Amino acid sequence: MLMVTHSKTPEMLERMRVASTIVSGVLEMIGAHVKPGVTTARLDKLCHDYIVDHGGVPACVGYHGYQHATCTSVNHVVCHGVPGDKPLKDGDFLNIDVVAAYQGMHGDSSAMFFAGTPSIAARRLATVTQESLYLGIQEVKPGATLGDVGAAIQAHARQHGYSVVLDFCGHGIGAEMHEEPQVSHVGRRGMGVRLMPGMTFTIEPMLNAGRPEVRVLGDKWTVVTKDHSLSAQWEHTVLVTNTGFEILTWRPSEAEVWDTFNATRGAARGAR
Ligand code: MF3
Ligand code: CO
Repeated sequence: MLMVTHSKTPEMLERMRVASTIVSGVLEMIGAHVKPGVTTARLDKLCHDYIVDHGGVPACVGYHGYQHATCTSVNHVVCHGVPGDKPLKDGDFLNIDVVAAYQGMHGDSSAMFFAGTPSIAARRLATVTQESLYLGIQEVKPGATLGDVGAAIQAHARQHGYSVVLDFCGHGIGAEMHEEPQVSHVGRRGMGVRLMPGMTFTIEPMLNAGRPEVRVLGDKWTVVTKDHSLSAQWEHTVLVTNTGFEILTWRPSEAEVWDTFNATRGAARGAR
């Protein structure tokens, strides 16, 4: 059998846990700073300093020439938005994507934030995208495939009338920020790479309110929806355990959303 993915040793996982905890700490910290009038450059600086102050390395800095610690993707920006001096407006929503390294091992996560009061459309897109991440994660266990992960995400997006971005994927992660395998956010059950204990990868679905097509702006980084519809993304770094999954970048503040969503799903299942 062709081995495309190497399992991490316990010692490598320990360093990934530290990196991932720094990343989740950044995302816990930054929410209070997201409000109308703040610039994405200011948010990036706060994230950068948090990573360094906690003993990590902001891994995006210098990555293929990128100059910032985070990607800040506002409204119709799908991913890789570049922090800048434009202040956020009331009603903007944005993804903040953070990668930290600790002693050479990486953690990668992103979340959505609202400046002021979001539109119902933005709130709904953000919620459904987070749910699709959770559904994808819950497929993860030894013997499952990446096709199972993609299929779960795709089904949830479709059910809510959203499209899944096809041009960007999750990825293996460890000593490199981006390793094999590619983790597509669409798929067919039973297809693709089979999961084994010790694998680590990100799941990071991008859902668009409109069409799935994207375009890269002239800065060569910023990815936007071609039709200018809103786009949302959530991301976690996940470990395949002997029995299922561990979310390495888990945030304690997610517990309520996670529990509520799973309880609702359980009830819906039971009714069927
Ligand atoms: N977390 C992002 C990803 O997995 C990293 C953005 S690219 C960088 O694609 F240059 F900012 F690092
Ligand atoms: Co990533």
